[in-house]
Amino acid sequence: MGSVRWAFRCGSWTPGRSDWLFAARCIQREEKDRIGQFVFAKDAKSAMVSSESDLAWSFNLSHQGDYAVLAAEQGRQVGVDIMKTAMPGCSSVLEFFRIMTRQFTAHEWSAIQSAGSEHQQLAAFYRHWALKESFIKAIGTGLGFNLQRVEFHLPSEPLTQDRVLHQTKMHLDEEEEEDWVFEESLLDADHHVAVALGPADNTCPAPRPPSLLPPTTFTVLSFRELIDSASPLTDEDPTYWDSFKMKAEAPQRQKDTHTST
Ligand SMILES: CC(C)(COP(=O)(O)OP(=O)(O)OC[C@H]1O[C@@H](n2cnc3c(N)ncnc32)[C@H](O)[C@@H]1OP(=O)(O)O)[C@@H](O)C(=O)NCCC(=O)NCCS
Repeated sequence: MGSVRWAFRCGSWTPGRSDWLFAARCIQREEKDRIGQFVFAKDAKSAMVSSESDLAWSFNLSHQGDYAVLAAEQGRQVGVDIMKTAMPGCSSVLEFFRIMTRQFTAHEWSAIQSAGSEHQQLAAFYRHWALKESFIKAIGTGLGFNLQRVEFHLPSEPLTQDRVLHQTKMHLDEEEEEDWVFEESLLDADHHVAVALGPADNTCPAPRPPSLLPPTTFTVLSFRELIDSASPLTDEDPTYWDSFKMKAEAPQRQKDTHTST
């Protein structure tokens, strides 16, 4: 069984004309049109990078903050979510948590609110968020899932940047789910990634129990590495660059937040 964990730092990627036009040639026409319609360059870039990362495995993508990530797995369901720890845009942390009350259980709120400083509580919040979303994405449901049915129990060891934690347990409808494994990592101090790995499917002969799988670390790829195995599907379209270079990077408020932190 194989595993792939890739990350690409789209926040600091400033593609030149030839890279952008080559990337556009390697994606499906509908994707190219969808990406062309983004108002802001940061959204167009993260969508472009996600579209480049197409594999013939079970895979899932996430893009938020400065990164796009991909997790691919043979023989089991996979879901991935990345969350950047950032101050809420228009309310205090307390008010933000109040609005989000129903997304987490009493046990999870207790873990979040006992994490320490306001920033540490926000980090714990986004860690739980990434875990929950990774599961939702692995099972392929969206807004219809009652998030109170899933509860995460974190180990006492801290999550640090140098390794992948896989001891976090999930309870579904108050029962511990032993067949699910969650790999948690920090791409940098502010970006939490959670990968949810479901039970092995029947197509894989003699699967190992997921708890025995070595957790896989994320490899941060350069644009060249990402594009290396891509083959152009369409001809070069110079107007696609003309339209991209006119886009503002991000809405003004996000740019202000970014430069002031
Ligand atoms: C649909 C949803 C799963 C997408 O996740 P997101 O955090 O907005 O965005 P991400 O960047 O992590 O993932 C987006 C990618 O996931 C994939 N995706 C979209 N819907 C999906 C689904 N239902 N299941 C699995 N993967 C999905 C796509 O590849 C998408 O890429 P694209 O936007 O380039 O097309 C999510 O928004 C959702 O509906 N969540 C509902 C549960 C909730 O309220 N969670 C709060 C957590 S506490």
